[in-house]
Amino acid sequence: MTQERPFRIIQITDPHLLADQKGVFAGLTTQNTFEQVLKKIKETYFPCDLIIATGDIVHNDAAEQTYKRFADAVSKLGIKTIVTPGNHDDAEILKKTLRNGLVTADKHYTAGKWQFFLLDSSVKNAVNGHLKEQELTELEELLKKTPEYHTLIAMHHHPVSVGCRWLDMSGIDNGSRLMDMVEKYPNVKIIMWGHVHQDFVSEKNKVNLVATPSTCIQFKPKQVDFCLDRLPPGFRWLDLYNNGHAETGIVRLDELPTEIDFSTSGY
Ligand SMILES: [Fe+2]
Repeated sequence: MTQERPFRIIQITDPHLLADQKGVFAGLTTQNTFEQVLKKIKETYFPCDLIIATGDIVHNDAAEQTYKRFADAVSKLGIKTIVTPGNHDDAEILKKTLRNGLVTADKHYTAGKWQFFLLDSSVKNAVNGHLKEQELTELEELLKKTPEYHTLIAMHHHPVSVGCRWLDMSGIDNGSRLMDMVEKYPNVKIIMWGHVHQDFVSEKNKVNLVATPSTCIQFKPKQVDFCLDRLPPGFRWLDLYNNGHAETGIVRLDELPTEIDFSTSGY
């Protein structure tokens, strides 16, 4: 283990904020748990150097004001934050709204010996993900040009199976293109995503694959059909070292929110 201070990232994902900040999703006021998770970040893995938000920032009523509310809340942490859209977002409104300030939809960020690239896996009016040719080409050009940087790639949808049949039907339909590509570039160390509202850690060809609990409701791992999990909202931390080594874990709120409606049968 090296003694240097690692570059620390926090991943937050799937806040599902509503235009009405008192609005509920599966019984839960998503604005409240989102703010509680931000508070938990401050109390535990803070300060950090970068926050990555992997989509579903809003729920089903995407509006500029909701993205602004998200940005205002995250900005209070004072940390550079980069955001990529999910299937519940309106990618155009998200990118248009998050253009200036600390919280932006920038695709590429470099710090020390690491670089971060955000793919947009969202497809307008579709639940599943897809990586457009342009996204893949842009990523490959970058990887070719920057072999000296350890690379973390983030997106909303999952590029590999997470072992939940109902969720695997809405992953990235051409995720194998990404997985095949990164095999050629050993500087790719981590691929991470949201969408699946659960803790997931795996590895393929020495690339760490991670997914993260939502800041609102959780989906139970290894299920055939939609199933909510009785676990509190949370976030992921990643400590990245100059030699390419990474450590990661999740932190959850102490309590399961009492108002979750467990009779919810889909979303
Ligand atoms: Fe989500």
